Amino acid sequence: MNQFAHLDRQFVWHPFTQMRDWLRREPIVIAEGRGAVLRDAHGREYLDANSSIWTNLHGHNHPRLNAAIRQQLGKIAHSSALGLANEPAPLLAGKLVQIANCELRIAKANTPTGSKFKIQNSKLEKVFFSDDGSTALEVALKLAYEFTRRVRHPPARRMPARAAQPKFLSLAGAYHGDTVGAVSLGHIDLFHRSYAGLLFKSDQVMAPYCYRCPFNRAHPERADAREYRKCHWECIGKVEQRFSAQKKKGNPYAAFVFEPSLQGAAGMIPQPSGWLRQATDIARAHGALLVADEVMTGFGRTGTPKSEILFASHHEGVQPDFLCLAKGLTGGYLPMAATLTTQKIFDAFLGRYEEFKTFFHGHSYTANQLGAAAALANLEILQGSKSVRARQTLEKVLHEGLQALWALPNVGDIRQVGLIAGIELVKNWRTREPFALRERAGIRVCEAMARRGVLTRPIGNVIVLMPPYCTTPAQLRKMVAVLGDSVKIALRN
Ligand SMILES: Cc1ncc(COP(=O)(O)O)c(C=O)c1O
Repeated sequence: MNQFAHLDRQFVWHPFTQMRDWLRREPIVIAEGRGAVLRDAHGREYLDANSSIWTNLHGHNHPRLNAAIRQQLGKIAHSSALGLANEPAPLLAGKLVQIANCELRIAKANTPTGSKFKIQNSKLEKVFFSDDGSTALEVALKLAYEFTRRVRHPPARRMPARAAQPKFLSLAGAYHGDTVGAVSLGHIDLFHRSYAGLLFKSDQVMAPYCYRCPFNRAHPERADAREYRKCHWECIGKVEQRFSAQKKKGNPYAAFVFEPSLQGAAGMIPQPSGWLRQATDIARAHGALLVADEVMTGFGRTGTPKSEILFASHHEGVQPDFLCLAKGLTGGYLPMAATLTTQKIFDAFLGRYEEFKTFFHGHSYTANQLGAAAALANLEILQGSKSVRARQTLEKVLHEGLQALWALPNVGDIRQVGLIAGIELVKNWRTREPFALRERAGIRVCEAMARRGVLTRPIGNVIVLMPPYCTTPAQLRKMVAVLGDSVKIALRN
């Protein structure tokens, strides 16, 4: 066994991994990467079909990202943001603010005249840096909580302790990270059950899942369930009901937390077009702040329409009060996150020193220079016309390639949003009968894919394809073909 594999098995505890299974075999030890290709310690090559858990945008060992990090490294790697500013972090903050607001103008220009959608206009002006997706959400959560306490329930008219607690609403199946606050906002029972005693209670509301929606009266077809659903937007009715019920209790929701466009860890479940806009309009009408978790969906992942919109919220003209970014922020190179928010939220934390209105939150590596330098280079590449064109091409290639998978009886639903695809495996597509989790259908298929040189990780019975933007059309076709072959082999069809 390779020496690193040996050491790993001896000392390392892996995330979201049953270590008993892990210890049974030699792990793949990644030694190098270039573009969309990862090379292991034995020299075997793999395509990185989930962009190293949804982080990598332009491929591994990108010369411009490498150069930006090296250049910054020549100056300084890190100094504290507590009491000090640095050079690249404010540049990055300014750039993020510019993109977040300029994209909204583009969305506005693209909204057809006469559309019932009015662009929601809250300007994002301030950036709080942290380390990863969970902390980006944790920051938004604390800010929204404290803002609501101060503005909605100022000390003079504080309600009885429990009634005054700002309450949060998020989506069924939501995943927003693993810190205690972020877990509290989530609703994946399997992940959250163990920590129930540690968490605060947040409410959940039905999220669209057209393929398995109890209100969808359509029989299964060989197409994305969003396209042939037969329903009356009952999921939107549920959102309205939830907000109204909470209002009647005298303590309207402080914030509505959502992943725009599609829910990732829930199983790559996309929202039908128009859902996000309707749901957030309801939330706004009930005075709730909008917290958009774009940790996975940000930076062009959910599609590249004519304009260069980089955030999923803007596809439907939604401007949140909190925009949470991580994963792709540094192109998948370094752990860094950002929570963008409005002047109004910022102002609620201003006061005399002794008033202690300060936002009491921070991390040692907040606004890290290497991360900020990588993020600036990432944004430059991302906004270049070459990258936009490449993404548009890849989206088409992915769409065309996926069509062949409908021929497989174990493929129940294929859902693509931009450069994200979720392929839901079922026992029988005609009945949508699922595989039991203990059958490990998703894991078996991914293991078969790995043996054929393509790496990805399933979400239960959903196989994820999320290629880096530098993937060539031929590499992408290979990812899809290997997935098809692996479904046949692993599930014996
Ligand atoms: C939507 C979403 N939010 C938050 C997170 C947490 O991010 P991190 O793992 O960087 O803490 C994830 C991670 O997958 C995610 O998909």
